[in-house]
Amino acid sequence: MQELAGRCALVTGAARGMGYGIADALAAAGVQVALADVRLQAAEEAAASLSARYGVRCLAFALDVADLAAFRQVAHNAAAALGPVKILVNNAGFGVLGSDLDALSDETARQMVEVNFGGVLNGVRAVLPGMRQSGGHIVNVASIGGLHVMPGWRYALYAATKAAVVSLSEGMRDDLSDTGVGVSVLCPGGVRTGFYDDQPASAGRDGGQANRDAVADGMDPRMVGRFVVDAIREDRFMIITHPELWPFVERRFERWRGAFREGEAVAAQLGAAPAGDAAARIAPKAHIK
Ligand SMILES: NC(=O)c1ccc[n+]([C@@H]2O[C@H](COP(=O)([O-])OP(=O)(O)OC[C@H]3O[C@@H](n4cnc5c(N)ncnc54)[C@H](O)[C@@H]3O)[C@@H](O)[C@H]2O)c1
Repeated sequence: MQELAGRCALVTGAARGMGYGIADALAAAGVQVALADVRLQAAEEAAASLSARYGVRCLAFALDVADLAAFRQVAHNAAAALGPVKILVNNAGFGVLGSDLDALSDETARQMVEVNFGGVLNGVRAVLPGMRQSGGHIVNVASIGGLHVMPGWRYALYAATKAAVVSLSEGMRDDLSDTGVGVSVLCPGGVRTGFYDDQPASAGRDGGQANRDAVADGMDPRMVGRFVVDAIREDRFMIITHPELWPFVERRFERWRGAFREGEAVAAQLGAAPAGDAAARIAPKAHIK
């Protein structure tokens, strides 16, 4: 989507941090932004400051992304006020790192799934029917933790929610390829935000501290916003803001490759017959590039 000025974007978790950085970059490109967040007052202040700085109309909406009916209502209200939602950024999320799975409270564990993954799914389901009619672009915010799991960081559930966002986005990109709706997934490393401002007391052991440092020394959220605007304009699928982290991802895929080689050896040992050219049979050839 090359021409962004005058369009309407809905950004979740936009009261602060990365969501605000993305809203800032969109507003700087002339986009009218609906900033949705559980923190309504902070979202209102953020919207007012963007409107004043860039001379575009920005509005705040109270929203818990885990609530699908509320998401649909906000999407409707944003479109009524600012025009059809052409850009959706599913950014709202949180993580508790440095904590074993059984040390997380039941509420925190449930919320991490319902907000980080459920919130993205809700956003897509709320906005997609309208977008199908005249096109648009959806950006789902995952994390580099959705592409590999950093040893020692004790964040299995957070990483799992982000990996789910990556897979959802990959499937959506394919499913929607002939609809005029573009899909991107943002996989940042450390970004300087309020990510650690609301952590429960149980978190923050070694792995938590390493990630705290990555966030404290991380990228300016407005720079992340500029990556997002570029991806929307150029219809890029993966948005990689920290390319220097590739060795961690490569190490993961090398392990997977090794597992497939082991699978071959075990299959030979067990006499399991290969299923012929499975790749060609299972997927249309166009999908395996
Ligand atoms: N900061 C990083 O280093 C980093 C790295 C990779 C990915 N991320 C992801 O970026 C996204 C934004 O995080 P951040 O670092 O800006 O954190 P942040 O805490 O500074 O901002 C998160 C915003 O989301 C809002 N929010 C939280 N739950 C919500 C809900 N249920 N409904 C609506 N709004 C809600 C908060 O009120 C807040 O304004 C998250 O999805 C996070 O997982 C962050």
